[in-house]
Amino acid sequence: MKHILSRTAVATVLALSAGASHAAVKVGFMLPYSGTYAQLGEAIENGFKLYVQEQGGKLAGQEVQYFEVDDESNPSKGPENANRLIKRDQVDVLIGTVHSGVAMALAKAANDSDTTLIIPNAGAGAITGPLCSKTVVRSSFSNWQPGYAMGVVAADKGYKTAVTISWNYAAGKESTDGFKESFEKAGGKVVKHLTLPFPNVEFQPLLTEIASIKPDAVYTFFAGGGAVKFVQDYAAAGLKESIPLLGAGFLTDGTLKAQGESAQGLLTTLHYADSLNTERDNAFREAYTKNFPNLPPDVYAVQGYDAAQLLAAGLKAVNGDVTKKEELRDAMRSATIDSPRGTFKLSKAGDPIQDIYLREVKGEENVAVGVAVEALEDPARGCKL
Ligand code: BEZ
Repeated sequence: MKHILSRTAVATVLALSAGASHAAVKVGFMLPYSGTYAQLGEAIENGFKLYVQEQGGKLAGQEVQYFEVDDESNPSKGPENANRLIKRDQVDVLIGTVHSGVAMALAKAANDSDTTLIIPNAGAGAITGPLCSKTVVRSSFSNWQPGYAMGVVAADKGYKTAVTISWNYAAGKESTDGFKESFEKAGGKVVKHLTLPFPNVEFQPLLTEIASIKPDAVYTFFAGGGAVKFVQDYAAAGLKESIPLLGAGFLTDGTLKAQGESAQGLLTTLHYADSLNTERDNAFREAYTKNFPNLPPDVYAVQGYDAAQLLAAGLKAVNGDVTKKEELRDAMRSATIDSPRGTFKLSKAGDPIQDIYLREVKGEENVAVGVAVEALEDPARGCKL
């Protein structure tokens, strides 16, 4: 069966009918389509296109034309890749990206060229902190949010000591810093922070170190292919039964089929879960699964879907006239988004203010077992908007 929303390597005009009041809105996806985050990029694009399809192939009555660049999760190529979309393709709106380091370059390029940017994943704190800008909003999260929420949960469980472990780049550092902040505020102590370079997966020496430290719990940030391997290795090292493994929800989102038994029972915190069982979420999951039968309706798909919803809110306010940039951006900032995760609004800095769920892995689902922190807002330290 051919999927209606299949991705193409070249620019695609979704619909070109007479009667649109303006030229098609040019949307540029800068996402990873290769490497450890490839599946995340694909899910984001799928989610975005699903929402557009649900609106009859248009956003606020406007045709949509898509452009794509594979950023390979490579920060050093970030400026060049961003300029492919901004200067060569002259897109109106950028949707990107997954990796925080690449997103830093993209946000700078968007700001310098006055191009509207919606970040559908990367949680880099600096983008909505010291570098915050009217040109940028997120449909996702800040790295701090799930980490902070899990620190609260870990302290509530009575854990006194923890080791944190992550890739050595902004997402890992900020996620584990968020955990440390709330965990230590509640009396816990992070006794060691272990790192390895992105996207390495040689976890064995670090797991040996964890076994010798014997903390009450381990908190981790990994995602995509690396998360699959970490969870498998943690279990294979015999640590799962003796030292509880906690994580930002990316550890087990979109990964459960591959992780299988090794992930069962793991607790994570995230702004989405598989079992919310709301009318809104059920409708999203049914539509996503129908269009993409081989992919789980995961958090990345939701973030892509909500990026399209944010853009639709902005376009509606300007009747599809993308040249009215300020009005479009203000409308996105004041929108209420009817997300599969639950409705949310953006903070002044442009981050979703949202509930962070506590989830437990059961079978192939991250089942919500509660809300770890309600309506959590990133502190956006250093933002002067
Ligand atoms: C990040 O780099 O910000 C990131 C990547 C994957 C999942 C979550 C965050």
